Amino acid sequence: MSSSKRGSRDKPVHFTLAGGSVLMATLLLVGCQAAEPTAEVSSREMERAKSALQPLKEQLVDALTGALQEGDPESAIAICREKAPQIAAEMSVNGIRMGRTSHRLRNPENAPEPWVEPLLAAYLEDPENPQPRAVRLNDSTIGYVEPIYAMSFCLSCHGPSLEPTLEATIRSLYPEDRATGFRMNDVRGLFWVTLPSDAGSETGT
Ligand code: HEC
Repeated sequence: MSSSKRGSRDKPVHFTLAGGSVLMATLLLVGCQAAEPTAEVSSREMERAKSALQPLKEQLVDALTGALQEGDPESAIAICREKAPQIAAEMSVNGIRMGRTSHRLRNPENAPEPWVEPLLAAYLEDPENPQPRAVRLNDSTIGYVEPIYAMSFCLSCHGPSLEPTLEATIRSLYPEDRATGFRMNDVRGLFWVTLPSDAGSETGT
C-alpha cells in the first residue's frame, strides 16, 4: 500500500475536546499501533486513578475544615498554600503525579498542564456533568481528572466578597490572584493525576 498518511483526514478520534488533544490523540494512535491500538482508558485504570486521588481530596478537605472550624482563616491559607502541595508531593510516588489546577488561578504555579486544558474546558462547557474524564497520554501513562466544585466554605477565600483582612493577606501573597468571585457549585477547577497505564505497569518490571 502506498503511503497515504495525509489522506486520512477522517474522524478525529472520539474525544472532540479541542484541536490540541485531537492532534495529540491522533499522533498517539499512529505511534503505538504496534503495541495496542486502544485509545480508551479502561475502567480498571479509571478506578486506580480515582483511588490514587482519594487521599489528597480527603486530607485537604479535612485539614481545611479543621482550620476553619477553629476560626483561623490565616492558618487555613497556610493549608492551601503549603499543605496542599505537600500532600500532593507525598502522594506522588511510583510514577504517580497529582495536583490541583484551575482556569482562574490563585497561584500561577498551579497552571494546567497542556493535556489538562481541554478537559478543564469541557467541564466549564458542561458544568452539570461531574463525571471523571481520562485520556491516554502515551502508551504507558494515563491522565485522569475530576472537577472541583465550590462549596459554601470555599467562598470565604474564593467568593465574590472576602473579609477585608483575609483579602489583604491573600492579595499580598498572590498579587495576580484571579480566584475570587466564585459562587456555590461553580466549577472551581480540577484535581488531576497521571499514572502508569495497565500496560505500562504490567510491562514495567
Ligand atoms: C482559607 C482560604 C481558602 C479556603 C477556605 C479555600 N481555599 Fe482554595 N486556595 C487558597 C489559597 C491560598 C490557594 C493557593 C494555594 C497555592 O499557593 O498553591 C488556593 C488554591 C486553590 C486551588 C488551586 C488552583 C489555584 O487557583 O491556585 C483550588 C482548585 C482551590 N483552591 C479550590 C478550593 C476549594 C474547592 C475550596 C473549598 C473546598 C477552597 N479552595 C477553599 C485559599 C483557600
